[in-house]
Amino acid sequence: MRKWIIFGLALSLSAGCAKRDDVIKIGEYGSLTGTTATFGVSTKNGIDMATEEINAAGGLLGKKIQVIVEDDRGLADEAASAVKKLVTQDKVVAVLGEVASSRSLAGAPICQENKIPMVTPSSTNPEVTKKGDYIFRICFIDPFQGEAMAKFAFENLKVKKAAILKDSKNDYSVGLAQYFAETFKGLGGQIVAEESYFEGDQDFKAQLTSIKGKKPEAIFIPGYYTEVGLIARQARELGLNIPLLGGDGWDSPKLTEIATLKKPGDALKDCYFSNHYAADDPNPVIQDFIKKYKAKYEEVPDAMAVLGYDAAHILYDAIKRAGSPEGAKIRDELAKTANFPGVAGQTTIDSARNARKPLVVLKIGEGGAYEYMATVNP
Ligand code: PHE
Repeated sequence: MRKWIIFGLALSLSAGCAKRDDVIKIGEYGSLTGTTATFGVSTKNGIDMATEEINAAGGLLGKKIQVIVEDDRGLADEAASAVKKLVTQDKVVAVLGEVASSRSLAGAPICQENKIPMVTPSSTNPEVTKKGDYIFRICFIDPFQGEAMAKFAFENLKVKKAAILKDSKNDYSVGLAQYFAETFKGLGGQIVAEESYFEGDQDFKAQLTSIKGKKPEAIFIPGYYTEVGLIARQARELGLNIPLLGGDGWDSPKLTEIATLKKPGDALKDCYFSNHYAADDPNPVIQDFIKKYKAKYEEVPDAMAVLGYDAAHILYDAIKRAGSPEGAKIRDELAKTANFPGVAGQTTIDSARNARKPLVVLKIGEGGAYEYMATVNP
């Protein structure tokens, strides 16, 4: 009797193993819920699209790709547990994520320790890829983004006095504020006020009143869309009608919806932010992608959808070249990524595992629509 049970167990175990080996498992972690939910959802849409394309063309290493997604609800400690689960329980061969730098900083050390390559589509804080040689990104970094927006404010908008309103618990926000201030002051501009808030805050009137008293000509707000939308509305309610400027963290289909007083997006009209791509760019690679994406998801993709798509394709291409699901081999091939034709531009991974790519400055116009303003090359 006992023998039979053991035999049966062995059979079902080997069946389980065979089944598990039928697929290449990829982990994904992101904020599918919470105040940055559109970050995770858009990224997932992009990753799903890339995965379906590769699977339809036969998969990878003769197997289908299976993406296992974990929702970290936008919290750094949940991001760490999500990555731990993906790496130790699910035994994924590589990890895609996160969008937000603070969450990527929490997940990266776990990937590094376990020698599982991690590719963040869109975390821009310089510290992320310094977590180790298994950690990659396919986007530009914040010193470049901060410098570009400071130059744009000083040279194009002729702003001489700027204020900063940052999320002081958010690595991305703190870093970007610093890079902006350094360049702006270097150009001869003055930072007349620097205030802070925390993600999840609803009332920014005290900070905005203090900023108003210092009479800046623009406010740089390196935050995420939920707070930025509320800040814009409250600034206008306080009669603070100067341009607001920001970085890629503004990008969300929800931004202008939140920043609405009377007409869609009116609280952010004539405001500017830097981003990874412009949807009104006539480049056929971009327009073809938008068409494909719209047919599937019925909306125009934001930057995270595009970067999620590119990140997945870049990772799958590296796995294909590696010819193996082994972490070290995938890592070596990721490091060799050169001139990969992404939707958000050609991607080459440098020796610090970052990508040097141009950024675009977008203007928020009538009805909350984004208008392409300028391209800045690294
Ligand atoms: N770059 C931001 C960060 O590092 C995240 C982000 C990327 C948000 C792209 C929106 C669009 O935290």
